[in-house]
Amino acid sequence: MNVLIVGSGGREHALTWKIAQSPLVEQTYCLPGNGGMAQIAQCVDLAGDDLADLADFAQHNNIELTVVGPEAPLVAGIVDLFAQRGLGIYGPSAAAAQLEGSKLFSRELLRKYSIDDIRFEVFTEAAAAKAYARQQGAPIVVKADGLAAGKGVKVAQTVEEAEAHIDLCLEEGGFGSAGQRVVIEECLVGQECSIKVFSDGETVLPMVPSQDYKRIGDGDTGDNTGGMGCYSPVPALDQPTFDYILEQLIKPTIAAMAEEGHPYVGTLYAGCILTDRGPKLLEYNCRFGDPETQVVLPRLDGDLVEILQATIEGRLDEVDIRWKQERCVCVVVASGGYPAEYEVGKPISGLTAAEQLDDVVIFHAGTAQHDGQLVTSGGRVLGVSALGLTFRSARERAYQAVALIDFENKYHRTDIAQRAVEAEENV
Ligand code: GLY
Repeated sequence: MNVLIVGSGGREHALTWKIAQSPLVEQTYCLPGNGGMAQIAQCVDLAGDDLADLADFAQHNNIELTVVGPEAPLVAGIVDLFAQRGLGIYGPSAAAAQLEGSKLFSRELLRKYSIDDIRFEVFTEAAAAKAYARQQGAPIVVKADGLAAGKGVKVAQTVEEAEAHIDLCLEEGGFGSAGQRVVIEECLVGQECSIKVFSDGETVLPMVPSQDYKRIGDGDTGDNTGGMGCYSPVPALDQPTFDYILEQLIKPTIAAMAEEGHPYVGTLYAGCILTDRGPKLLEYNCRFGDPETQVVLPRLDGDLVEILQATIEGRLDEVDIRWKQERCVCVVVASGGYPAEYEVGKPISGLTAAEQLDDVVIFHAGTAQHDGQLVTSGGRVLGVSALGLTFRSARERAYQAVALIDFENKYHRTDIAQRAVEAEENV
């Protein structure tokens, strides 16, 4: 079959890498793809924001399966459009994707079905929102209701920070219509982790858990980013807690979505926090994670395409999913200056040597081909993933590969998965 992957980041490269290995796949297309995806698939130079253009492309190229990386096309209804045209596509409908597309939808659903007990309120008026924030005190979380390219959520350490984010959303139109409502939530404290599942609307198959690093600096300091590294599994997440999240939070959510008339088909990503009141849901996402996919898919021992097809066809109960016992660590290599200003167009060297290391796979994010030379084209440039029997060996391999790669102003964190190594060795 012909498969199309929509997106251009490290997550989409990891999906393409795994999908292209399937014996079921004849031709893999990526739209628009990146410099790494171009080495294993055919990249298509289409903007991608007009969903009808994507459906036309799929129709004209006999695409039997389209896999969507980012949330925006899912929330905008790409799955509904493809379904209307009889095209096979993996992911939730627009109605189901509201779990990520509207923070309020998600919180209200969890409250209605008594799945979670997080304290929250919703506001459209800045004065009322600020009064509530002042009354609750800091730290407090202020969320733009809609999609805001990862910038809509503020974990405010002071009431002033909360008020500034409320103003940005409600007074200054900082996120357009996505910020016309804000959800203000209690701030939870604990280690974060994420569990993604395949869901066909009824049957839920979990993926292995992972933990990502959101801050730019070592020791979790500095600005938030799209993710500077990741590891899987998560030593802090024991089996009873994993089971609780799956059985008491995720499965009831899938059942609630079916009850609401929006059966959830696709990947559901539960962003969780391990608090002293037990595990809680920080948020749902309607897609694979980035850079989580870069550590989860290398651990999948089997054919991803078979699983995706079974998900779409409502036969996940027939799937026997297997995972490698090995640990996986991904270190993101970024352009210096990211997540603020950075330069692009820097020639990248050392990739061939790095890729030849055992159990290392390199996923491109911000790369492009320019006059036959691979160059940087984004803030997060590469995700260097490595498998190992222990976190120590996986981590060492990942950093060995990172050391072989070079470009002007290269930046990466030096502490990715250090806490996993310590946790594993202290048991
Ligand atoms: N790593 C966070 C996300 O994919 O949303």
